[in-house]
Amino acid sequence: MERQLIKYLLASAQPADKVLLKGWIRTKRDSKEFSFLEINDGSCMSNIQVLAERSLSNYEEIEKLKTGSSISVKGRLVESPAQGQRFEIKAEEVEIYGPAPEDYPLQKKRHSMEFLREIAHLRPRTNTFGAVFRVRNKLSFAVHEFFQKNDFLHVHSPIITASDCEGAGEMFQVTTLDLKNIRVSEGRPDFTDDFFGRQANLTVSGQLEAELFATAFDRVYTFGPTFRAENSNTSRHLAEFWMIEPEIAFAGLQENMRLAEDFLKYIFRYCLENCSEDMKFFNDRIQPGIIDNLEAIISSEFEALSYTEAVSILMQSGEKFEYPVKWGADLQSEHERYLTEKKFGKPVIVTDYPKEIKAFYMRLNEDNKTVRAMDVLVPGVGEIIGGSEREYRYEVLVSRMKESGLNPEDYWWYLDTRKYGTVPHAGFGLGFERAVQFITGMQNIRDVIPFPRTPKNAAF
Ligand code: 4AD
Ligand code: MG
Repeated sequence: MERQLIKYLLASAQPADKVLLKGWIRTKRDSKEFSFLEINDGSCMSNIQVLAERSLSNYEEIEKLKTGSSISVKGRLVESPAQGQRFEIKAEEVEIYGPAPEDYPLQKKRHSMEFLREIAHLRPRTNTFGAVFRVRNKLSFAVHEFFQKNDFLHVHSPIITASDCEGAGEMFQVTTLDLKNIRVSEGRPDFTDDFFGRQANLTVSGQLEAELFATAFDRVYTFGPTFRAENSNTSRHLAEFWMIEPEIAFAGLQENMRLAEDFLKYIFRYCLENCSEDMKFFNDRIQPGIIDNLEAIISSEFEALSYTEAVSILMQSGEKFEYPVKWGADLQSEHERYLTEKKFGKPVIVTDYPKEIKAFYMRLNEDNKTVRAMDVLVPGVGEIIGGSEREYRYEVLVSRMKESGLNPEDYWWYLDTRKYGTVPHAGFGLGFERAVQFITGMQNIRDVIPFPRTPKNAAF
């Protein structure tokens, strides 16, 4: 007999159907003549109740089972007399795979997110993390579906690279040098001894490679892990996170903004339609109102304004900010929150930032002061997308590189795209975990990635 998943059992089964299912005991209640076992197999939020009667040959062992044990159950579906569920399973055979002793940490009570982070190897077995990782899974699929439907080519950009895309120097170095015994020449480690014969690091972004491919395939996207050694211990930063980076040729900032808005709405809608049970859980238990919020966002237009306009709104707001607002300074999360939550009450796209606070590759505006950047800010999370139109004029790009302290010779391959058949192009990066946070309402980014990497933490 073939094994069934609880998700399908609950959706389509009929009384008296024979069933075989496998899973883990969430809770158990015993009486004199029988035990009730609540089983979950991860296929959905719901458990199914199994009635195991004393007449079963191995009832003595079944009786001793505790929360966390893994079993297989053969039996028949019967209408359940209990409230809140249509069916239960009357067991005919219960096979025990692995019992769990008394010290199983996930006993039936509410655990704090902090405690669950310490047992990240077991937390996927809880309701909250079951829902988080099912939504994360669907969201990843939605990303590919959106781009594939719109003729984007998926590029696997490299994880090890010798360039610093963001020019921020926040990179993890990759080396096979023996750190206890490094040959030094002219006061610096001699990287010619290193694996790649030069200094290499984990990528902070796949954008530069995406740009190269966009000049061949017109529209492309990457979806991969990215790494940043920024020492930010916040609820929105990880040292290892996943980013989706589309890049479109023959396009500028307007097309880029439209793409970002259509893309976000598509993946939000996808989750509402395909994760309804889990979304209901987030709505009831994690962030009340989140379903209505997402629906409102899908059916309204994002707000768009320039950095200069944003700064003047913030200065006139009468709010007391911890970080003062002034033209030229980067927007802090309190400023982003004011714009999205208080002023507009919806996602906001801020464009045309001062060049000093943005990366070298962004297209310089006529004013010579601002660049064609765009950040998409959302209520609760703040910056979810960062992107721009790219500087596609060879000379201007070279001088922006020099201004930013980069050596154009190191980027000869990137500059070649501007030398041979250059085109206006644009793109952006969506922080995948921030998108999961936004959709689920989970407060801390460490709770939407299976095994978070943060300063001083690489456990599991
Ligand atoms: O704004 P960022 O730094 O932009 C880039 O990396 C560009 N190369 C993207 C592009 O134009 N192709 O990062 C993009 C997004 C941010 O908006 C944020 O959502 C997320 O990546 N992000 C992080 N997420 C988690 N932890 C971190 N430390 C993050 N840093 C950025
Ligand atoms: Mg950014």
